[in-house]
Amino acid sequence: MSDVGMDTIVSLCKRRGFVFPSSEIYGGIGSTWDYGPLGVELKRNVKQAWWNSVVHQREDMEGLDAAILMHPLTWKASGHIDGFTDALVDCRSCKKRYRVDHLAGEGDHRKCPQCKAEIDLKTNPPRLFNLMLKTYLGPIEDESAITYLRPETAQGIFVNFSNIVNSRHRKLPFGVAQIGKSFRNEITPGNFTFRTREFEQMEIEYFVRPEDAENSYKRWVEERFQWYQALGIKNDKLRLRVHAKDELAHYASGCTDIEYNFPFGWSELEGIANRGDFDLRQHAKISGKDLTYFDQAINKRYLPHVVEPSGGVDRAALAFLVDAYREEEVKGAKRVVLGLNKQLSPYKIAVLPLLKKNSDIVELAKKISSGLKKYFVVKYDDTASIGKLYRRQDEIGTLFCVTVDVQSLEDKMVTVRDRDTMHQDRVNIDKLDEYFQNKLS
Ligand code: GAP
Repeated sequence: MSDVGMDTIVSLCKRRGFVFPSSEIYGGIGSTWDYGPLGVELKRNVKQAWWNSVVHQREDMEGLDAAILMHPLTWKASGHIDGFTDALVDCRSCKKRYRVDHLAGEGDHRKCPQCKAEIDLKTNPPRLFNLMLKTYLGPIEDESAITYLRPETAQGIFVNFSNIVNSRHRKLPFGVAQIGKSFRNEITPGNFTFRTREFEQMEIEYFVRPEDAENSYKRWVEERFQWYQALGIKNDKLRLRVHAKDELAHYASGCTDIEYNFPFGWSELEGIANRGDFDLRQHAKISGKDLTYFDQAINKRYLPHVVEPSGGVDRAALAFLVDAYREEEVKGAKRVVLGLNKQLSPYKIAVLPLLKKNSDIVELAKKISSGLKKYFVVKYDDTASIGKLYRRQDEIGTLFCVTVDVQSLEDKMVTVRDRDTMHQDRVNIDKLDEYFQNKLS
């Protein structure tokens, strides 16, 4: 069985230490989540897999880690101060506030989703609400101190365009990748970690000659789609959705979303947009700095065009979790397995002593665990019976369990159990490194 409800995932995440409600002892703070010991490993692995694929495995990419707080004019240039808004309306009956695009009905005649009262947008017109989170820099809280928590990481890349061209002697085409936190005062956060007010993005701005933008856009759509597949997402749960013309921002000539079929329906994991020269042009205009690129090959100066693959770390991690969850029946009992890809599993190996009371077994198991730690993420665990330990490791996606038993003390062999097949190998302790190098490389 693989189709799973969100309740099951949320409960597994809490029970096994992937995700906890933020500040839970104070009753939590709406739709904000803390990644626990297992969640932080999973998220690091997602980011590492992305970074490896888009930076380390390519010659045409650079990495960046720009500050979250940026000069407020950045957001004037990007259009976020004037245009990053949702239209909101208050239901006069139940006093709840809604995004207009979330209301049923047509034109001015809408219905409250809660109390079903009529909402007439003519007499109760929507107000625009900016989604950026505001704060003040420095000790005086006046207009001049206002700054914003970035609503996307992308702008940190655009404002560093010239720095990267100059310091890295870059020629087009090339791209810049960045992973980092972004913040949006979402009106309707929800669906667990899918839509939150604080989240992490993995974004690329890929700079090309204007005439190459369309091909580059198509290539990135293909590549990013394959990344999710290569990390194990099932084909029938993944699709591309091309934006209709009226959905596109005025400067974009194309945008395609990669969507996953979550238990709450098809939803966006990542968007790939063909953004033209909008961002560099705006920053050049507002900053007064020349952001053109001199193309030696054609002896011309111009603003490069940009293709932007922009994904969410939290959404990718959630999709990997949901997709990996399965329940099986083994000898009449339910076995829950997180069949995560080997790159993503929080722990690769668990080392388990069969008899916790036997100090020689415990000592040998701990020695094996610390030896393997040099190469792999390994956990030693002796907090329950072997059956329970196996079940726990299956449920958190650990790829292999190494069991040390009485016989191991004599023959220097241990049992290695595979998470997915439950097949067991007897392996010489001296050969364990090599065995796992072969399995995990
Ligand atoms: N720079 C372009 C940009 O930010 P976006 O579609 O608004 O585009 C890109 O965001 C990705 O960031 C989304 O595909 C999603 O994965 C993630 N994301 C956006 N808003 C989010 C939120 N409130 N919670 C979690 N992830 C979010």
